[in-house]
Amino acid sequence: MGNTSKDKIISPIENKKIVFGVTGGIAAYKAPLIARILKLEGADVYTIMTEAATNFVTPLTMQVLTNRPVYTRMFANNPTGIPLEISHISLADLADLMVIAPATANFIAKMAHGIADDLLSTTVLATQAPIVVCPSMNVNMFENKATQDNLSILRSRGIHILEPDSGELACGWEGKGRLPEPERVVAEVQKILSLDDFSGINILITSGPTSEDIDPIRFITNRSTGKMGAAIVEAACLRGAKVKVITGPVDIQYAPWAKIVEVRSAKEMLKAVQKNITKADVLIMAAAVADYAPASYSKKKIKKGEDLSLKLELSTDILSSIKDNKGRKIFVGFAAETDNISEYGRRKLDEKGLDLIVANMVGRQDTGFESDTNTGIIISSSGIEEGFNDMPKKMLAHTILDCIKERIS
Ligand code: CTP
Repeated sequence: MGNTSKDKIISPIENKKIVFGVTGGIAAYKAPLIARILKLEGADVYTIMTEAATNFVTPLTMQVLTNRPVYTRMFANNPTGIPLEISHISLADLADLMVIAPATANFIAKMAHGIADDLLSTTVLATQAPIVVCPSMNVNMFENKATQDNLSILRSRGIHILEPDSGELACGWEGKGRLPEPERVVAEVQKILSLDDFSGINILITSGPTSEDIDPIRFITNRSTGKMGAAIVEAACLRGAKVKVITGPVDIQYAPWAKIVEVRSAKEMLKAVQKNITKADVLIMAAAVADYAPASYSKKKIKKGEDLSLKLELSTDILSSIKDNKGRKIFVGFAAETDNISEYGRRKLDEKGLDLIVANMVGRQDTGFESDTNTGIIISSSGIEEGFNDMPKKMLAHTILDCIKERIS
C-alpha cells in the first residue's frame, strides 16, 4: 500500500522544452498568456517571433515571461545564449515540441510548401519534434480553399492543427478564425506530450451532483461540484482514453476532448448510464447521485402557505442496476463518508460489485466536496491499494487511473 501526500502536480510538460513560434496576427496578443501558462506548468519556453509578430507584441514581454532571450532574426541581433551554434538548428534540435500560435495564413502556406525564409519557418523545417499549429485569421482567409488545402497538407504530414474558434473576429467579421483561449492551446500541447497508456480504451465517467425537482422553482441537490469528475475526465483524455462524461448540473468545464451528456436527475443519469455502458471498457461513478427524490413533481409553482410537505422516494442504485452488465469491464465507485471510511468503503465495494472504490472524507472544508484536494483510500477486493492525504484532485485522478491500468488485461 502506498500512502501519498503530494502538493505538486506533475504536468506532462514539466521540464519539456517548448519552442513557441509567434507569427504576425492580431491574436498574437494572447501569446504572452500562453507563454505564462506554459511556464506555470513547468515548461522551458523558447520564443521565436516573426518580424510581423513584433508589431503586435514586444519581444521584451515574451522575454520577461519566459525568462529567456527571444529569437527574432536569422542572422543578426540574435541573443543566442548558445554560442557558436546556428539558432535554427539548435532550436529545432532542442525542441520537445513546437507550437505556432497564432499561425497566420501566410505562415501556414509557407509551412505547407517548405519555404524557409526566416528563423521560424527554417526552424519548423529543421525540427523533428511534434508541431502544433494554431491557425488564426479572418474567416474568409481561413475558409479560402488555398488555406484549407494547405492545412490538409500539414495534417497529412502528421502536424497537429488546433481548429480556430468561431465568433466575433478582430477584423469585424463573424465566423471561424479566432485563436482558442490560451488554456486550450496549452491543453493541446499537454495532450501531445502525455503518456498514451489508455489509448483505445473507452471510459464512461459520471460526475457532479444530481438535482431532483420539486416544482419549476425548487429542487433538492447536494454539494458535489464535479471537480473530482472533471479531474478524472482530463487525466483520462490526456492519457489517450476515449472519454464520455455523464454529468449532472455543474459550473465547471470538462476537458475539450470528452463527449458530454448532460443530465439533471438521478433517473436521467440512470438511463444515460444504462444506454452507454455497453461500449465502455471502464466505468467510473464519481457522481454524487441523490439517494432520495421527491415522489411527485408539481408542474405549477407551489405557493407560499400551500402544503409543501415532501414525500421522498429512494432512487434506484445505478451501480447495482448494471452489475449484470459488468463482464470484463472495470467498475470504479466512490464512497463519500464522514466516518469509518474503510469499513463503509469495503462494504460498498462488495455490495455494488466493484473492482475499486475510492473512499474519501467529506464534511471537512479541506477535503471532498468543493475542495481541490481529497483525503481517503482506494480499496480493491484484495485490500487497501493506496492512501491519499490532502492530495490535489488532479493528482488523485492519475493515481486512480494507475490502479485501473494495473487491472486492464
Ligand atoms: N451510486 C449509484 N446510484 C445511486 C447512488 C450512488 O450508482 N443511486 C454510486 C455513486 O456514484 C458512488 C457509489 O454509488 O460511486 C457510492 O455512493 P455513496 O453516495 O457514497 O453511497 P450510497 O450507496 O448512496 O450509500 P450511503 O448514502 O448510505 O452512504
